[in-house]
Amino acid sequence: MIVLGIETSCDDTAVALYDTSTDQVLANIISSQCDIHPKGIMVELAARAHAENITTTFNAALKKSGISKTDIDLIAYTNTPGMVSSLMVGACFAKGLGYSLGIPCISVNHLQAHILSSFIEHQLPDYPYISAVISGGHSNLYYVSGCTYSLIGQSIDDSAGEILDKCAKLMGYTYPGGPHIEQLAKQGISGKYRLPLPMSVDTSLNLSFSGLKSAFARIWEKCPQTYADKCDLSYELQRRIVQSLIKKLTSAIRDYPVQHINFVGGVSRNRFFQEQINIFATAQEITLHLANMDYCQDNGEIGRAHV
Ligand code: KG4
Ligand code: ZN
Repeated sequence: MIVLGIETSCDDTAVALYDTSTDQVLANIISSQCDIHPKGIMVELAARAHAENITTTFNAALKKSGISKTDIDLIAYTNTPGMVSSLMVGACFAKGLGYSLGIPCISVNHLQAHILSSFIEHQLPDYPYISAVISGGHSNLYYVSGCTYSLIGQSIDDSAGEILDKCAKLMGYTYPGGPHIEQLAKQGISGKYRLPLPMSVDTSLNLSFSGLKSAFARIWEKCPQTYADKCDLSYELQRRIVQSLIKKLTSAIRDYPVQHINFVGGVSRNRFFQEQINIFATAQEITLHLANMDYCQDNGEIGRAHV
């Protein structure tokens, strides 16, 4: 069976084709909108760009996979959560194509697709497991037992990705900020600046990052704003974000004993975060599952992942 995955929930128009008989991703094409949102995502512009790009992205995926559209058996499209006008573009395209080809369309929850993204190329672990979906829109912890996903913790304000984007913007970098912060932090010196550990006395599984952003902004405004300051502050920001995540993951595996966790979503592309969470998992004698770098962030294949 050939499955078409369509993802338009945010700023990437993504289309993937997958062959279930050979378990192969035939194409995974992403048309990025980073250039049109240098200061952050503009909802109306994003929807217009999806409408302009979706047909060419779909045609590029067909060309890459070498199949014809009449070979497609099923369409999976993201229907929630996300920006409504952007989601509508994917949904309308999927339903129109499904109708014209006479094939079924199924809607996919974007977060559930992220949860499964680390198992596109790797074997699913035994249930239950804990999933940390850390992206631009969400910082959610789930207890996954089979097809049941229970939300056990979430950010009560900004997501980790949003904080990275906002702090990078303060320092003059374009969206998405996460990759800029990661590069700067590599040259940062530990201990030069101090940010607070979010939710340090909170015992719930919820996360909070907006205080970190305010503390970052206060230091940034008063410091000399040299390149070295950018690096040192980025280092400290990453250190506190991952410490906070690990603190909550420690509580999560205490409350929900599991042998496996996965770390997914755009922020999970960050090597420093991957390494730190891996150190935590090894110490706890649990297995960490990461997605292939191409599948951490939004893409059409995460739509297929849910199928
Ligand atoms: O999952 P995603 O592509 O979209 C949402 O569903 O939100 O995640 C986008 C987020 C952005 O905030 C971006 O800055 C962050 O992922 N990101 C990173 C890195 N690459 C992307 N954060 C940290 N390090 C990275 N290398
Ligand atoms: Zn996402």
